[in-house]
Amino acid sequence: MSSPQSQSLDVRTALKQGIHLLREAHVPSDTLAAELLLLHVTRRDRTWLYAHPEEILDPEIIASYFSLLRRRAAGEPTQHLTGKQEFWGLEFEVTPEVLIPRPETEHLIEVALDRLAIRELRASRDHKLTGEGLTIVDIGTGSGCIAISLAKELPDAKIYATDVSPAALAMAQRNATRLGFSNRITFLESNLLQAFPSSAASSPHQSPVCPEPAERVTNHQSLLFDLIISNPPYIARKEFSNLPIEVRDHEPTSALYGGEEGYELYGQLIPEAARHLKPSGLLVLELGHDSLPAVRPLLEFPQWTNLLVTNDLAGIPRVLSAERT
Ligand SMILES: C[S@@+](CC[C@H](N)C(=O)[O-])C[C@H]1O[C@@H](n2cnc3c(N)ncnc32)[C@H](O)[C@@H]1O
Repeated sequence: MSSPQSQSLDVRTALKQGIHLLREAHVPSDTLAAELLLLHVTRRDRTWLYAHPEEILDPEIIASYFSLLRRRAAGEPTQHLTGKQEFWGLEFEVTPEVLIPRPETEHLIEVALDRLAIRELRASRDHKLTGEGLTIVDIGTGSGCIAISLAKELPDAKIYATDVSPAALAMAQRNATRLGFSNRITFLESNLLQAFPSSAASSPHQSPVCPEPAERVTNHQSLLFDLIISNPPYIARKEFSNLPIEVRDHEPTSALYGGEEGYELYGQLIPEAARHLKPSGLLVLELGHDSLPAVRPLLEFPQWTNLLVTNDLAGIPRVLSAERT
């Protein structure tokens, strides 16, 4: 009998065989992964897939599909095979050089928008939140998913995005350009907030990735933010061997590990954030599944107030937010 790759198969059979292959390899969400790979090779949408179960697929399409299925079965993430992931209703290009945006990170956007809206109400500005007058920075932007989603929601905000990885910044910038937000976000290569010295006397440590007028570069020196938001690396290095192969072998180490225990980077990020926020400015941080006990004590009065912990859909404390006094 010839192998499935050299045959013509109908859509229903191809999907069934794909699910079976992934299930045998213990791939999580096998049905969804097989569907996404079939949609990718056929360049169709889900409606077409289920409306045309009898449609015969060309042998070349079947060959590409089974090649991707085998790579998925060997551990490559589906998003690396399709090159994309949806986040906040936008389609982001992803490569192995950036973290694949996760659904739980959308809670950061929700918390940030809610808390900014509450701040506006407190200041008796109860009109629609457009971001007018707000300056925001996303630390560790990766694919750019947080900065770009905020740019979409807050059309008048000034947004900065930093990362230590030039490859991630290039990806974030490509996403911003493709999604139409490149003129709204300044991308900077920077260790945390070091590109924004807190002393007005010192020079900027890094130049923007994208050349921009010298005046704006100089302005970075004295910038204070209304919102600092970050999904920092927070996995413990000692957990390396317990991670799923998709994550351990395929996502960038600089995006994963926060130190031996995982929560070390928060210890640098939070004091830096305190120096770079306006009074009543907001800090919104994503947490690892067990980070809360180590991170909450770093946000104490008198520097911080109005601490809020938000759980994700699995009931895990996922977002820690606080206001600078
Ligand atoms: C967990 S990923 C988050 C990516 C993206 N913001 C998201 O939510 O999908 C962390 C990102 O922080 C970057 N990073 C790691 N250490 C950093 C540092 N010290 N300063 C700035 N960025 C850093 C990594 O390169 C990576 O892109």
